[in-house]
Amino acid sequence: MRGRDLLSITDLSPDELAMLLRNALAMKRDGTPPALAGKTVAMLFEKPSLRTRVSFEVGMKQLGGDAIYLSQAEVGLGQREPVKDVARVLSRYVAGIVARTYAQQTLHELAASADVPVINALSDDEHPCQALADLLTVIEHKGRLDGIRLAYIGDGNNVAASLAVALAMAGGQFVIASPDGYALTPDVAAAAKGCATKSGGALEMVTAPEDAVRNADIVYTDVWTSMGQEGSHRARVEAFEAYQVTAELMALAKPDAIFMHDLPAHRGEEVTEEVIEGAQSVVFDQAENRLHAQKALLAALMSGETSP
Ligand code: CP
Ligand code: NVA
Repeated sequence: MRGRDLLSITDLSPDELAMLLRNALAMKRDGTPPALAGKTVAMLFEKPSLRTRVSFEVGMKQLGGDAIYLSQAEVGLGQREPVKDVARVLSRYVAGIVARTYAQQTLHELAASADVPVINALSDDEHPCQALADLLTVIEHKGRLDGIRLAYIGDGNNVAASLAVALAMAGGQFVIASPDGYALTPDVAAAAKGCATKSGGALEMVTAPEDAVRNADIVYTDVWTSMGQEGSHRARVEAFEAYQVTAELMALAKPDAIFMHDLPAHRGEEVTEEVIEGAQSVVFDQAENRLHAQKALLAALMSGETSP
């Protein structure tokens, strides 16, 4: 995978996805090799972040390298300077670019002009690094991905899109309950269905949360209003009113079901305090696994040395 970009989870083959997860687990268990000694990544962020920024910076340091965080206020990606120039300048200094953008197109423009790997650290369309960490978390808690039934309650957003495809690639069943107008896009649904057909997994799209959670191993939710959608917050709160993950909804899933959320969470909107703080919640394991999953990814793309 050396030299490649990760702009979408669909950039990975099922075998590559499985390899990254294996390597991430190995690094978590055995420690991190100095696979990126002397290398630096640039972190271009158009939107705020806690987990992604810190886990990439710490991950690079643990791999023997370094990271430089560059906010939009400093760089003015596409404003102070064309995206293609930023990509070419950074390629003269760093070994990789980690970018959090609004438009997916901005990532494609960066990748087209950069000589180094570009990693999607969340865009309006996808959050592939979150999906890697989430699958790692599922493996740790459930021992497998194949045949796992994950009920995603809420918006068919960036997090849902990457997770649907990743789980389908790994042979899992992704069932999403969302209100009319907030489902996965047809493109994402087609990609996930295509992967599921090959792996023996499944993609189901329903409207009632109760239909999704029945027999689920995992109940997953994310915010109703993603970064950049603040103007439609009021309409979204109305549309998603019946989509809160409550203890009553959790009770319809398997008795040993876990609750997942990529964070940040809005308690009282997509999830109750009781559920996110409850015994079934693994949200901080997910947050930790961002670090392990991304170290495996960085090593694979930037050194070619993929295991400890
Ligand atoms: N889950 C996630 O990507 O968190 P941040 O937005 O804080 O990076
Ligand atoms: N869907 C959320 C995820 C945040 C990590 C957003 O895009 O804001």
